[in-house]
Amino acid sequence: MPETDYLLENRKAEAAQRFAALSALFDPATLRQFDACGMAEGWRCWEVGAGGSALVRAIAGRVGHAGHVLATDIDASWTKEAASANVDIRIHDVALDPPPGEAFDLVHARLVLVHVPERERALRNMVSALKPGGWLVVEDADPALQPLSCIDVHGPEQELANRIRQGFRALLSSRGADLGFGRTLPRLFRQAGMAEIAAEAYFPITLPECAPLEVATIAMIRDDLLGHGIATAEEIERHLRNVRAGVLDLSQPPMISVRGRKPR
Ligand SMILES: C[S@@+](CC[C@H](N)C(=O)[O-])C[C@H]1O[C@@H](n2cnc3c(N)ncnc32)[C@H](O)[C@@H]1O
Repeated sequence: MPETDYLLENRKAEAAQRFAALSALFDPATLRQFDACGMAEGWRCWEVGAGGSALVRAIAGRVGHAGHVLATDIDASWTKEAASANVDIRIHDVALDPPPGEAFDLVHARLVLVHVPERERALRNMVSALKPGGWLVVEDADPALQPLSCIDVHGPEQELANRIRQGFRALLSSRGADLGFGRTLPRLFRQAGMAEIAAEAYFPITLPECAPLEVATIAMIRDDLLGHGIATAEEIERHLRNVRAGVLDLSQPPMISVRGRKPR
């Protein structure tokens, strides 16, 4: 995917805040997936499309100095803050570049494949980088299952929030994101020959961590919202005031987490 096509381009100053907000909201659920795989000291892990540094640090802490984390992204501007003795950061396109020549215990990508046009090739590359018996964990949202920002619509504040969220989804879709991709993952895992497949969804109805994510996302796409006539500057400011005032129960689409094991 050409970098310019990625709506939430990492170089934007607000990207660091958005990555921190994604981690605050989703890392606990992601770490539960790793626990289910039996992540342990000494594991070698590949974090694909890492974005920020928090999850990479958390993985590095779990695998310890006997283990190793390779964190890759097409733009590692924010990932590199996680560099340490057992973490390597690399610029790498999961679909277009050859997979790293290591045999990983675990390969993980969260909210990455939905943005990659050559998703199935990316998935094949991730599977090929696993050692026999290694675990693949892929997590992607499925906004088509639950597209609303506020699921309890009881006034103009929620209607505005939902209109802005709908516009954001349309922008993502127009740039190639597949908004119903999450649900396809179990099938894609099976087609890729994975074993012990398990899938579940994590669906925040409203959590304190949803508000910083909304603020950071709106900051990143503000110009696109204005440019496409999705909301006026006044409406965007009003929505941000509503978010900060805590009058909205902000939701997220279900995050579908799938894990599977490469046969031995
Ligand atoms: C929505 S962010 C998610 C970041 C992080 N995985 C998380 O969940 O917090 C998507 C990330 O995928 C990266 N990305 C997009 N296309 C990629 C590709 N083809 N190869 C590797 N990374 C890619 C972006 O640069 C960005 O950092």
